[in-house]
Amino acid sequence: MALSSNHLLGLQGVSKEDIQLILDTATTFREVLERPIKKVPTLQGKTILNLFYENSTRTRLSFELAEKRLSADTINFSKAGSSAAKGESFKDTVRNIESMKVDMIIVRHESAGVPKYLTQISDANIINAGDGRHEHPTQALLDMYSIRERLGGIEGLKVCIVGDISHSRVALSNIYGLQAMGASVSVCGPSTMIPWEIESLGVKVYNNIDKAIAEHDVLNVLRIQLERDAGVLIPSVREYHNYFGITAERINKNNPNVLIMHPGPINRGVELSSEVADGPFQIILNQVTNGVAVRMAVLYLLGTKPEA
Ligand code: CP
Repeated sequence: MALSSNHLLGLQGVSKEDIQLILDTATTFREVLERPIKKVPTLQGKTILNLFYENSTRTRLSFELAEKRLSADTINFSKAGSSAAKGESFKDTVRNIESMKVDMIIVRHESAGVPKYLTQISDANIINAGDGRHEHPTQALLDMYSIRERLGGIEGLKVCIVGDISHSRVALSNIYGLQAMGASVSVCGPSTMIPWEIESLGVKVYNNIDKAIAEHDVLNVLRIQLERDAGVLIPSVREYHNYFGITAERINKNNPNVLIMHPGPINRGVELSSEVADGPFQIILNQVTNGVAVRMAVLYLLGTKPEA
């Protein structure tokens, strides 16, 4: 089986079959990660560029590890310390690096649409590692993998994405992916952080966190993105925590079976109390572990896809 596209730019329009293929392939690689020697020769001879114009810990390291586990050669670009900091344009930067012969590009950029633009100026397979407020498809895939691993499936589940939806690329990719897999998706947060048109995506809106906890199987809790001016959308982070913060008390009162997820990095004491972030309701570090297997699956499926 092969993916329908040569690139992974987002989950909008991606079929259930393609998502299923990625998640099933990730299961095989998840097993590899438990072996004493966690490496397979699958992408030997391929060269992969990690092109990061924006900060990252989990996504960058997880892609790099996934590439190494598949025996690919990797090169890493960070905006800080590069000639982009001297004014070199994005296009010139890419064309210069591509002249060194790269097969795949993993890109994170603050501007939405950059991964799609890359498909027009490069012959490499492009994977979106987060573009502005648009999409972060591998995060949603690892979220879905982690839900499936913990709850046995996705179809029919009720999943609520909580927090700063308006600044979130994780929210949009989760909405597209979960709906394709047959889940019902809601969002919950202050009305200033919920995009006006979100219901047109078939998403229900909650403004009461207790009700959201009570009525869902899974809460995927997002970070309040203070670096993207989220602070102007709420009176204070203390007030946000009082109204929307997930605490053990709220979970115990409303739904002790709810599964808590978070893509990271966490603002402790803002969107999650530390008791919840480290406690029995959450699978946050499992999500990170699964991220390596899911990214191995995406790299493998794109890197070995037969020519059409
Ligand atoms: N979840 C996520 O994208 O984290 P990073 O920004 O650390 O990559």
